[in-house]
Amino acid sequence: MKYQQLSIFEEPSKPELNCFHRNLKKSGFNYQEIDIGDITFKGGQTELVHRWYRLTPSYSPHLVRFFLKDLEVTQDNLVCDPFSGRGTTIIECQKKGVKAYGIELNPLLQTVGNYSLSWKIDHLELFTNYLKEIAEIIQTYDNQSLDLVIEQFNTRIPIIHNVFRWWKVTILKDLIIGREIICKKNYSSIYPYLWLAVNKAALDCANIHRNHPTITFDDHHTREIDVYAEIRKNLQIIADDLYNLNTNIRNHSELNSIILGDSTQSFKEIIPGSVDFIITSPPYPNRYSYVHQTRPQLYFMELLDTVQQATAIDLQSIGGTWGKATSILQNDLLEVPDEIKPYLSYYDELKEKSILMCNYATKYFIDLWQHIKHLKEIVSERFQGVYVVGNSRLSNVEIFTEVILSQLFEHEGFKVEKIISFRKRGGKKRLYETAICIKS
Ligand SMILES: C[S@@+](CC[C@H](N)C(=O)[O-])C[C@H]1O[C@@H](n2cnc3c(N)ncnc32)[C@H](O)[C@@H]1O
Repeated sequence: MKYQQLSIFEEPSKPELNCFHRNLKKSGFNYQEIDIGDITFKGGQTELVHRWYRLTPSYSPHLVRFFLKDLEVTQDNLVCDPFSGRGTTIIECQKKGVKAYGIELNPLLQTVGNYSLSWKIDHLELFTNYLKEIAEIIQTYDNQSLDLVIEQFNTRIPIIHNVFRWWKVTILKDLIIGREIICKKNYSSIYPYLWLAVNKAALDCANIHRNHPTITFDDHHTREIDVYAEIRKNLQIIADDLYNLNTNIRNHSELNSIILGDSTQSFKEIIPGSVDFIITSPPYPNRYSYVHQTRPQLYFMELLDTVQQATAIDLQSIGGTWGKATSILQNDLLEVPDEIKPYLSYYDELKEKSILMCNYATKYFIDLWQHIKHLKEIVSERFQGVYVVGNSRLSNVEIFTEVILSQLFEHEGFKVEKIISFRKRGGKKRLYETAICIKS
């Protein structure tokens, strides 16, 4: 795909540059604008495998394909995505037979990503057995209490706060039946698919607005919810996709995986071999908490034993902003290492306006700086990387993520080839999505 060389800084017809462009110009980095259409999660919702889960901050598979082609990635290369989310990069690599590893801190997303890389079609007839079995059991317990189901299956009510605001009692009962049956030995060969189908149904059957990017309650909805129908629909989609993958996509094989890990720590031990390419998107400094947004499924799929674990993961996440992660940033200003202070362009203004926001942004950049330092340990000589990030505004102060991160990359010895801007996010809010293209 060809894209336009940018002349925005010189273009006379361009309306006055806004602060995003002015700051980029001042930074001196090469800058390009590319229009490859919608690069949001929406693209993935109509594509094989990607549609098995919906993560609104995902990028689209065609963005990954664009970079795989642009960077000339081949089957001899090793690709890594250190912030793999639902696994978009790693899935696209597997489709092309390219070896790739993902790293992801959130156990829900790591599991979703990993199970989405299982593409076997050997035992799909078992889908019918499973559906028949849950239909019968749901029928059996139709007039029984949730407590009885909990007792019979030796399980517990999800430990999420306000559990019955999330799910109506009867819905939760059916969902728990669906979830417990997947653990039976006779379904072990199709376990990943059953898990994905139930996991998706758990959110789609919750009392929430389903078209919003962030989760909010929909307390007074009158939707008819049918757990069995949702699981059956999800399994049908998975079966169709597996069939299509195995008939239409040549060369793929199940070579990839997503590892539960923290990319701000050393990942030398996690990734076997040196990495030729990174195509990734770390969190943005926009106060979006991945743990908070995925908590219904984290709890429902029993990926956490205690509520404290959720807080601990959020605290460890880049840009985590929930509960304790916020309260510990509230008081004194974080100490900023002298080495990186000159790059934090928001700092002086933001510290006057809000200590919390200033600390939040500073922790974000310190975490990414740690990541960049560890990146050096694993890259090959021919390494090239793409980091998709978004700028933001905290207490009305601009956070020029793309320029600050580019400066941090250069500070650590990487070469920033160019910054590409794809599109504006958020209407009039001057929010942009950019890709920082680096080399070793
Ligand atoms: C923008 S999302 C990535 C979305 C991904 N590109 C996709 O298409 O699904 C950023 C991800 O980074 C993860 N993350 C945050 N802090 C992390 C850390 N320290 N180590 C590894 N992953 C982390 C978040 O849980 C989130 O899934």
